[in-house]
Amino acid sequence: MTKPVTHTVTAGANIAFIKYWGNTRTPQNLPLNPSISMTLAACVATTSATPLPGAEEDDIQLQGTEPTQKARQRVVDFLDGIRTRTGRDEPLRIRSENSFPTGCGIASSAAGFAALAVVAAKAYSLDVDAHELSRIARRGSGSASRSIEGGFVELHQGVDDEAAFSEQLAPETHWPEIRDLVAVVSGGHKAITSAEGHHLAHSSEMLDGRLQAISRRADQVRSAIKARDLEALGEASEADALSMHAVMMTSQPPLLYWSAETISAIQCVWDLRRDGVAAWFTIDAGPNVHILTTATDLPKVEARIEEQYGWRTITDQPGMGAQFVEHEVT
Ligand code: PMV
Repeated sequence: MTKPVTHTVTAGANIAFIKYWGNTRTPQNLPLNPSISMTLAACVATTSATPLPGAEEDDIQLQGTEPTQKARQRVVDFLDGIRTRTGRDEPLRIRSENSFPTGCGIASSAAGFAALAVVAAKAYSLDVDAHELSRIARRGSGSASRSIEGGFVELHQGVDDEAAFSEQLAPETHWPEIRDLVAVVSGGHKAITSAEGHHLAHSSEMLDGRLQAISRRADQVRSAIKARDLEALGEASEADALSMHAVMMTSQPPLLYWSAETISAIQCVWDLRRDGVAAWFTIDAGPNVHILTTATDLPKVEARIEEQYGWRTITDQPGMGAQFVEHEVT
């Protein structure tokens, strides 16, 4: 009998310029709006999968430890989806590690589920293209869909499963100068997960206004990426982040992901800009602030943060899509 092969895949996290917030249908996670992001080079998840013929259940470790029951179930449900589709039923041994700390303002679910989608598809011999892998990854976490591809990626709004896939707008080599610096103003895990937040979005009176503005803003982001125009990209990204947080804050019950330091970081970015530094912010479902800048202006942003605020920072740049790293016989 041939021994099972372990496959290993890396996938980068991503930072969205136009955010995905609000979905319909679980577990398909069909997004209410298109979203556009940059896949990151340094913040990656590395995930391996080994079939366990004869085993009763999946053997899962995340960041070197047993996950919580809730986190484990999310992975098992995701794998069950692929097993149903492929008619395979043997459990998998899954090992996944992030190159970045959790709770640092980098969404670990995006990198983790993108890597898991690719490695599990391989383990179950599911031979599909990147668009289909992005549909599969979306079921783990909507933003994971965008991490299948490298560089600049759009996840289409979806009325059904077929429509809601991700596609690359430009490769990572298109804009090597752009930087994403995360000002880690507070650590720790968020109380309300984005999965819960996507449902609450429907209760906000601001949701319609946000959705109406998005198509124009997404056009601005697509053109800004094409032209490598950080000012246009930054303006649209700030506006979109504020509009997403307005939806969050006006949901019932309200979601406030910001801390007092988040507002200081926003003001820091606006001060930098007033002083002629290329810096625009965006904020995900947490208190930490992503600062979009250039390789040239990065040292000025870092110096200002170090001198005036002392926040820990993590800097990243455009990275590749999900990749196989090794094949080994266990
Ligand atoms: O993929 P999820 O369910 O974690 O949602 C992502 C939500 C945001 O990070 C706030 C926005 C985005 O598009 O990445």
